This record gives sequence, C-alpha cells and structure tokens, in this order.
Amino acid sequence: MQISPSVLNADLADLAAEVRRVESAADWIHLDVMDNHFVPNLTFGLPIIERLVSQVAIPADCHLMIADPDRWAPGYAEAGAGSVTFHVEAAAKPRQVAKDIRAAGARAGVAVKPGTPLSAIEGLIRGIDMILVMTVEPGFGGQSFMAEMLPKVQQARRLADSADVDIWVQVDGGIGPETIERCAAAGADVFVAGSAVYRAQDPAIMVELLRASAENGARP
Ligand code: DX5
Ligand code: ZN
Repeated sequence: MQISPSVLNADLADLAAEVRRVESAADWIHLDVMDNHFVPNLTFGLPIIERLVSQVAIPADCHLMIADPDRWAPGYAEAGAGSVTFHVEAAAKPRQVAKDIRAAGARAGVAVKPGTPLSAIEGLIRGIDMILVMTVEPGFGGQSFMAEMLPKVQQARRLADSADVDIWVQVDGGIGPETIERCAAAGADVFVAGSAVYRAQDPAIMVELLRASAENGARP
C-alpha cells in the first residue's frame, strides 16, 4: 500500500517546503502537470519539477495531464522522476511513450479518464508499470469521489494481474478517509490524496492514517 500525496491544493509558491511536510510518511510525491489544453487548468512543468526532485527525498510521481505526451513525457523521466504517467486519450502512440519513459529510467504509468474504458489500454499491459484509474474528471483537486469507478478499479486489478509482471493500480481523485478503504478492497494499491492530506492539520499523520485504512480495506 503506497500513498502519494498530491501538492495540487498545497501552497504551490512554496513547493519544496510542502513536500517536506509529508516526506517522512509518504512513498511518493504526486505532481500534477496540467497544460490548459488537455485539461482546463494550468500548473507547473519540467523546469520546476527538475529543481524540485533535486531538493526532496521522496521520488516524484508525475501525472501528466497534457496534450502530446509522445513529445513531452520522456523528459520528465530524464529529469529524475521515479514514475511518469500519461493519459492514453492524449497519446498518439501510447506503447512507444511507455517504452520511452522506461528507457529514460522511470516507471511508466498510463491513466484513463472516467469516461475511457479499460479496453483502451488492454494492448499496452506488457509495457507499463502502473494503471491510473481516475476517480474524478482530471483538472482540479477537491472534487467528490466517483463511486461508480469502483468496478473499473476491480477490472484494472484483474487486467494488471493477468500480466506476468507486477503492475500497480493507482486511484486519484476524492481519495480520503471515507473512500480509501473501498478503493483498496477493489484492488488499488497506490493512492493519490490531495486535499485530504494538505487540508489536514498534520499532513504526515494523515498519510499514516490513510495507509492504515488502505491496509484495512485490502483483500487478503
Ligand atoms: C486531479 C488531480 C489530482 C488531485 C486530487 O486532476 O489529478 O491528483 O490533486 O485531489 P483530491 O485528492 O483533492 O481529489
Ligand atoms: Zn493527479
């Protein structure tokens, strides 16, 4: 069970300090890259992430909500991210994007929006390290969890298990103390939490609490 806090709703003007608040407890730091094109919001990109990874002690889990990942995704791996996830809806040649991310030294993740069926990534399964099932429409933090995505999480788990390699299933959007157990029970093993972590009085304690709930919900 791994927890990847998202800094989207933290103080983006003080990013390194915000990461340090969860560093002792979190497995990853989730960095939402948005381009105002694939999603109607704009955050940060490569130059900021490149600086950040050199200043923090936990690996970067980059979630690229951008057009043309074919062109841009490998650069995030080259910049030192531990994991780079792109959206299948945005990629021209998803199999090649995953291959390029891996060749640059990062784990390759592929994300699906709520409206995208898993059949869109079935053919990629042997070339990826993680499936990201979005549990909100990508673009903003603080939205409500879409419980109707739970069957898709189960389906993603089955798809991941059908490959002969270890593929993680990540959920992102509306994850908090009330929803994390159900996601773990459905088969997720990497949990992104933005507002739940950064709205907490002590973000690191919230990370531990979320991990305990996830372990509680996990299937034996
Ligand atoms: C939304 C982002 C999420 C966001 C989650 O498009 O991908 O990572 O930060 O925020 P919460 O946990 O508040 O839903
Ligand atoms: Zn995200």
